[in-house]
Amino acid sequence: MTTTTSAASPEPLPFHLTGNFAPVLDELIVHDLDVTGTLPPELTGTYVRNGPNPRNGPTPTWFLGHGMLHGVRLERGRARWYRNRWVDAPTSSNTNIVRHAGKMLALVETALPVAVSDELETLGAFDFAGGLTRGMTAHPKICPSTGELLFFAYSLQPPFVTYYRADASGALVQSEPIQVGSPTYMHDFAITKRYALLLDLPVLFNGWRTPVPIQWSDDYGARIGVLPRDGRGDEVRWFPIAPCSIVHTANAYEEGGTIVLDVVRAPHLDGPSQLFRYTLDLERGVVHEAPLDARHVEFPRIDARRTGSAHRYVYALEFCDIVNGIPTDCVLRKYDVTTGRCTVHDFGPGRVSGECIFVPRTPSSDEDDGYAICYVYDRNRNTSDLVVLDAADFAAPALATVALPRRIPYGIHGNWFPDPG
Ligand SMILES: [Fe+2]
Repeated sequence: MTTTTSAASPEPLPFHLTGNFAPVLDELIVHDLDVTGTLPPELTGTYVRNGPNPRNGPTPTWFLGHGMLHGVRLERGRARWYRNRWVDAPTSSNTNIVRHAGKMLALVETALPVAVSDELETLGAFDFAGGLTRGMTAHPKICPSTGELLFFAYSLQPPFVTYYRADASGALVQSEPIQVGSPTYMHDFAITKRYALLLDLPVLFNGWRTPVPIQWSDDYGARIGVLPRDGRGDEVRWFPIAPCSIVHTANAYEEGGTIVLDVVRAPHLDGPSQLFRYTLDLERGVVHEAPLDARHVEFPRIDARRTGSAHRYVYALEFCDIVNGIPTDCVLRKYDVTTGRCTVHDFGPGRVSGECIFVPRTPSSDEDDGYAICYVYDRNRNTSDLVVLDAADFAAPALATVALPRRIPYGIHGNWFPDPG
């Protein structure tokens, strides 16, 4: 009798457990990092970026990994520390980190915010003194004029969407249920000086069936809701648009009798996304839709001081190479939406940037007068850098490159937190 044994070939690991998507397994604090070039001395504060980093073994999808914060502290021309900390919460608070009314909040849209310290230690869930009882979008907007925090939450049960407004002190002052037809996947929204803009699109929850809990609907339609920021939920005015998927907005503003809304839009759930402009004619009730560029981009960011008012520049990550649906090479793009000019910053072979943010040189400097900051993974060295670019000379070599003590896994969103002045 002959016996043959054959080893079954192992299942390939999912993308989020391989390469630089794979989690790091420990928390570090390293002081006084090496800098190549010159860090602008006025760049004093902390850059923090959030991202999924499974803590207790593999997760079924990238989006379910525990949140991990990676922070670099810059101080008067020196890189004082790098540290990474898991967000110590029962849910995966892994998408963004913002600061409002003195509180740093790690965010994921399926759970309450989690407060963390300036040293990135978890303090605990934050629910606006009991006012928030459901997950909060990871993309709240801070109004530069009023200091208000505007946001929304979605739910699988009616009301599927709720709009909220907190005042500059962090007190929740408004909560408005918004009527939409189904549990729509609403990741981001936008504000102008007077309005909140809600995106009711044909990407719907299917009851958390994994691995992808959302699906495209051919029947649902698509519309942009315009709600006065202090209006009642039933005051939303809806503007139909062509069906599409919008994960992130860049900004919105009012201009004459119109609202301009810049987003990154895909024609379908899985299609390549482009920088795209909607112009809503408030008098005639119609919307003009047009791409601003043909490149495949995501993670649009602006100078946060322009939130709700006219912006000229949008920074975005261009996906240059996609393998099995996963971006493998990226460059940064800076769009001048006034002239249509687009500038690239390419970090070179094997150097892959994440989301890039803009930091003004001073609180009152012009929109383009400042720095673009991001983490860059170097595939050749299997480690990462924090890179500071001159935003006004975007294609030029970096002003400063901070050598980090480890690779920073690809993540999601980050922000710059200047020292309170
Ligand atoms: Fe996002």
